Amino acid sequence: MSNTILTGDRPTGKLHLGHYVGSLKKRVEMQADPDNKLYIMIADMQALTDNAKNPEKVSANVLEVALDYLAIGLDPSKTTIFIQSMIPQLAELTMYYLNLVSVGRVRRNPTVKTEIEQKNFGEGVPTGFFIYPVSQAADITAFKANLVPVGEDQKPMLEQTQEIVHSFNNTYREVLVEPKAVLPPKGQGRLPGIDGNGKMSKSLGNGIYISDPADVLAKKVMSMYTDPKHIHVEDPGQVEGNMVFTYLDVFGTDKEAIEEMKAHYRRGGLGDVKIKRYLIDILEAEFGPIRARREEFAKDPAAVMAMLKKGSEDAEQVAAATLAEVKSAMGINYFA
Ligand code: TRP
Repeated sequence: MSNTILTGDRPTGKLHLGHYVGSLKKRVEMQADPDNKLYIMIADMQALTDNAKNPEKVSANVLEVALDYLAIGLDPSKTTIFIQSMIPQLAELTMYYLNLVSVGRVRRNPTVKTEIEQKNFGEGVPTGFFIYPVSQAADITAFKANLVPVGEDQKPMLEQTQEIVHSFNNTYREVLVEPKAVLPPKGQGRLPGIDGNGKMSKSLGNGIYISDPADVLAKKVMSMYTDPKHIHVEDPGQVEGNMVFTYLDVFGTDKEAIEEMKAHYRRGGLGDVKIKRYLIDILEAEFGPIRARREEFAKDPAAVMAMLKKGSEDAEQVAAATLAEVKSAMGINYFA
């Protein structure tokens, strides 16, 4: 069966290893299947919903995110990479969908609820932020995506999209396609930060970035949270909650060697520096080539912007066709 796949990222910073294991890697795999058509969106409009006063933060990161995409192997000859704000049809669809969603329903979205609390918005929450799940439904349905690879925290957005699809199709006519979330395998969705605190995030300053130079990567691994009670090499150490082993479980390929190291660490006699050096080698093997590709692409930002322009033009055509169907189903295609 052929799939239409859409996903995206808010351009509020460079992408990190949490993004990589949670979603980016999966995209490259999906891209390799010729039956799949991928749309990857840089969600600048969504990023602006809580950065309206700071638009440079968003616009400056569009290129950075595009470079991350190209570096990990997303290929614009196969995958349409585009900028959300360049597709006006998405904003238009959002306006029609908003009429199908109650304020109470928007208020119940658990992810938005949590974000409003974390950001201390209270009643000051920007309306655009409050309703961004509806705009996300427009992103997904404009391309008639049936699969949406996202992290666990995006599940409520997919549920909301499904409801909008049903409501639209029942109210007007069967136009929209119901999408399904593609979630990361259990235990792999949430890469903790190097400090062991929660998930990797820019605001917590605990991330390793795809673009980090080799020395920065090594320094970050060397500063990873391990077992604070493992002071002398001979001391028995704890593997659970030890970020080096957490990362080895995610990135290591020689599972047998890692299990042996864990046993050795638990017994005592295996030092932190040794396991950290081992992890650095593994990460360097995976991200060294990615970093090199990124540096190559970064030499020609104009070419990257041209790629995004072409992708946005292609994406606009698809979104325009869906919008035309939507308006016709609603009976507001006056001049057709
Ligand atoms: N909300 C997503 C995030 O914060 C980004 C996003 C915007 C998205 N529109 C989307 C993801 C549509 C999937 C589909 O990461």
